Order: sequence, then structure tokens, then C-alpha cells
Amino acid sequence: MERLNLSSSTNFSRIIYGMWRLAGDTNTSTKHISEKVNLCLDQGITTFDQAAVYGLYTAEELFGGVLKANPTLRHKIEIVSKCGIVNPSNRYANASVSHYDTSREHIFNSVEVSLKNMSTDYLDLLLIHRQDPYMDHLETGKALDDLVLSGKVKEVGVSNFKPWDYSLLQSGMKSQLVTNQIEMSLAATDSFTNGDLAFHQERGTTVMAWSPLGGGKLMSNNGLLGKSLAKIAASQNVDTAAVAVAWILAHPAKICPVMGTNNLERIAKISDAMQVKMDRETWFELYTASFNDGILPWRLP
Ligand SMILES: NC(=O)c1ccc[n+]([C@@H]2O[C@H](COP(=O)([O-])OP(=O)(O)OC[C@H]3O[C@@H](n4cnc5c(N)ncnc54)[C@H](OP(=O)(O)O)[C@@H]3O)[C@@H](O)[C@H]2O)c1
Repeated sequence: MERLNLSSSTNFSRIIYGMWRLAGDTNTSTKHISEKVNLCLDQGITTFDQAAVYGLYTAEELFGGVLKANPTLRHKIEIVSKCGIVNPSNRYANASVSHYDTSREHIFNSVEVSLKNMSTDYLDLLLIHRQDPYMDHLETGKALDDLVLSGKVKEVGVSNFKPWDYSLLQSGMKSQLVTNQIEMSLAATDSFTNGDLAFHQERGTTVMAWSPLGGGKLMSNNGLLGKSLAKIAASQNVDTAAVAVAWILAHPAKICPVMGTNNLERIAKISDAMQVKMDRETWFELYTASFNDGILPWRLP
């Protein structure tokens, strides 16, 4: 598995395993989650993506069960987590409305709970989960700087930020934001041409792609895109998911896909995507097929 430096001190596996769906699996035992983690490690996937809100604030603790059962694991992996979403349930049952909170108090409290939930004293990377239209960039930026200084968080970044919000937050900070995690796939191609990816490519910051299979919808595509994926998959002896992920990996921006399958057999094959050959014409064959299927309007932007 290829590895990438997001900063001088942060080295992540190119493919990341995401735990958004962890709590929704029919089996959430520590043993079963350990199997998922071990299948990832067998392929060199050492970076795990979490968020305070996943599983309505339960997914970090489920993963924490694995870390508690095997304390040496922590130093073999990198943990990404996120904060800033308040959903009026469980932990925030007293909130009257869903909202974002990027205040210092919320960020600090959320990180403390994440650390406790995952039995660790540091996160490798903390992301602000969504751009907050009520953000005080100076307060949020100082909170992120102070967390980095405290050592509780090694690096900081954002998710779902537009370039202008990224610049605003960065302007209020001393430390560097190291990534933006955004939706990117053959089912969500806007960021390749609307400036979102270009902004980070220009700055040399790593972009992480969430839902690289469109949350699974690419895998049930029966149109031209599904046929193109199947043809390329057959010719390279991999499954169609590997080809869809390879389409993201092939991009010169060195995007990191964040995979979300709960299925053990599929997890075991995530790294097949690294073996797929994808030249420029194959990349455009898939890109234009996604338009033809009505996922996007038919025309190269
Ligand atoms: N930052 C954000 O705002 C944000 C938002 C969403 C997600 N994320 C991150 O991105 C991660 C991935 O998101 P995702 O789960 O939507 O990603 P995904 O990998 O695009 O989709 C996974 C889904 O596709 C299904 N699927 C169907 N066929 C599949 C196949 N052949 N291979 C693999 N999966 C197949 C999986 O079902 P099975 O489980 O049955 O395989 C699963 O439900 C999340 O875990 C989270 O870490 C971040």
C-alpha cells in the first residue's frame, strides 16, 4: 500500500477505511470489528476515519473496544476523527435543533470524548466536519492551534469546506490545515471542475474522497457507466469497485479514497484498486459514461 505525507510528520495509507457505517452493521461486536481492522492492516491500510457523530455518537466507542482489547494496535494505526455536528440525540439530547458548533468549547469537549471513546491520548488528525455558516474563524482557528500545541491532536483539517471557507479558517491559524475531506466519485464529479479540487492541487494539500463508490450506488449502475466499469474490471481481473476507486486514485492530485464497506469479503479486496491500470483514455471513458447515464448532464464540462 502506498503511503502519503499529509505534512512533515503525518504519514497515512493512501486508502483509508471509514467507519461511518460501523454502528449500522448487523454485527457490532468487538471481535467482528477487529476482523475488519485486521483485514485492513493485512493490506497496509492503517488509517481509519471516524467522527464524533458517526452512529449517532456511538461509532468511536465501538472502535474503541478494539483498541482497548489490543493496546499495541494504537501505534500501528492513524486515527482521523471529526467534530462540529450537533444532532439532538444521545450525547446532545438536550439540543433543540440540529446545528454546527465550531466554538472552542465544543471542539475541546468533543475531542476529549473522542479520546476517551477510543482509549487514546491523541488523534492523528482532527477535522471540522462541515463548514459552519456561524463560524468565528479566529476562535475556531485558535482552538485548533491550541489542540495541536497540547499534543492531543497531531494535525488539523476540514471536511466539506469550500475554498473560501478553507482560506478563512486558515487565515485565523498558525498551524496548517492539512486536508479537506469532500465527496468525490464517478457519482459526484463536480469537484473535479468547479475549483474545489484545483484549489487544493494548487496548494499541494491532500484531498480525501468520501463515498468513493457513491455510497454503493455506482455498484448497481446498469447503464453505460456500469457496463464500462464491468468491462474494465473483467479485463483486469478485479471487481467493479476496484475500478471505480482506481478512477479516483489515478488523478494527479493524489486523492485518498475513504472506503466504507462493512462486508468482510469486500474489505479484504479494497487494495485491489491499487493494481488497476488506468490511462487517460480509460479515465475519460468512465468520466463521460457517468454523464451519459444521466448522473451528470451529457457534455464534457
Ligand atoms: N466527511 C463527510 O462528511 C463524510 C460523509 C460520508 C462519508 N464519509 C466517510 O467516507 C466513508 C465511506 O463512505 P461510504 O460508506 O458512503 O463509501 P462507499 O465506499 O462509497 O460506499 C460503501 C457502501 O457501498 C456498499 N457497496 C455496495 N457494493 C459494494 C462493493 N462492491 N464494494 C464496496 N461497497 C459496496 C457498501 O455496502 P456493504 O457494506 O454491504 O459492502 C456500503 O453500504 C465513511 O465511512 C466515512 O468515513 C465522510
